[in-house]
Amino acid sequence: MLTVNELKNVKGKVIIVRVDFNVPQKDGVIRDNNRIVAALPTIKDLVDKGARVVLLSHLGKVKHKETPEVVEAQKKKNNLSIAAPALAELLGKPVAFCPETRGETLTNMVQNLKDGDVLLVQNTRYEKGEEKNDPELSKIWASLADGYVMDAFGSAHRAHASTHGIPSILKAEGKPVAVGYLVEKEVANLTRCVDVKDGDRPYVAILGGFKVSDKIKVIESLLKKCDKILIGGAMAYTFAKALGRTVGTSPVEDDQLDYARRCYNEANGRIVLPIDSVCTNGFENWTEKITTNDSNIPDGFEGMDIGPKTIALFTDEIKKAKMIFWNGPMGVFEQNDFAKGTIAVCEAIASLNGAFTVCGGGDSAAAVKQFGYKDKFSHVSTGGGASLEMIENDGHLPGIDVLK
Ligand code: 3PG
Repeated sequence: MLTVNELKNVKGKVIIVRVDFNVPQKDGVIRDNNRIVAALPTIKDLVDKGARVVLLSHLGKVKHKETPEVVEAQKKKNNLSIAAPALAELLGKPVAFCPETRGETLTNMVQNLKDGDVLLVQNTRYEKGEEKNDPELSKIWASLADGYVMDAFGSAHRAHASTHGIPSILKAEGKPVAVGYLVEKEVANLTRCVDVKDGDRPYVAILGGFKVSDKIKVIESLLKKCDKILIGGAMAYTFAKALGRTVGTSPVEDDQLDYARRCYNEANGRIVLPIDSVCTNGFENWTEKITTNDSNIPDGFEGMDIGPKTIALFTDEIKKAKMIFWNGPMGVFEQNDFAKGTIAVCEAIASLNGAFTVCGGGDSAAAVKQFGYKDKFSHVSTGGGASLEMIENDGHLPGIDVLK
């Protein structure tokens, strides 16, 4: 696979760079610019080489099946123009913004680019054909470019027009397609969690989050690779119920009980579940908070975080690890009362000496950042869905495989 570093002779060439500027925002204000910062090395490299850089990214969701009014409102909410000044400030140079995703304005703006210029194009999801990997749309975008760089790791699990269609066409035309520095780094780190070497054992995975059904494939894949899987967060209650424990009003996926039971039994002691919980009498506006003595949750109570005995148990397992892959918080960490479990996992991982530690994006990456542990990890992924799919599919992602 070609890397951006190896892309030579790009001076004066139009290079489309697919970035992931799907940044958290509210009312047009960017809440976290991490994903823009993460794309800088690739953009700067191409600018320095004199390429004419055209950036494509999605932002949020635009559901084209909705009524025209709803689609318009979603477009307004997810207008990518907010990213242009943010990028310009970080790059220290102007960034032009094209409000159209196709047509004369876009063609003219691309044709008028000078060497080293940067142009950001409106949200790719304004186009109905983007998520369908529409060949015609891919052709329109590909026709603008002399080469393509994939640096949107967070979107590499999507086979969309901007992540798959464009590079397929350019590759067939003999034009260069490459991965950017961010994708290169993500792939190198996550591949280590997929192709496990003996020296990285014990390998401990920590999974949390809401639904077992979202994580079935990743649990199955990790069971083939890991020595232990620690399960916290709401998905632990489905396992608890499957094993005959009481769960009160905690969220449970009843259609996953058989799966959870089978999976737990087949794991032969390698799945470690919470042995106590912090619970409340309701999710919001609760008035009573208790810590259970064991893994049973009483009637009328809902699990909100792992308890102190589980923290000690999980910490103990983490301390033995040479490699960690973590995805999903241990509790409702957004509320101070239920952040202890997630913070304790951060702390235990941070105190490891010489271990290779990966946080797989999404909510757990937000927690790692919020609690100040980002620098303590070997790698914090920028892609929640992408890093999970990479583990699930043994290192394969459509947006990366297409470049090979
Ligand atoms: C993400 O935020 O995980 C990526 O940007 C992908 O977004 P998507 O789930 O809307 O495709």
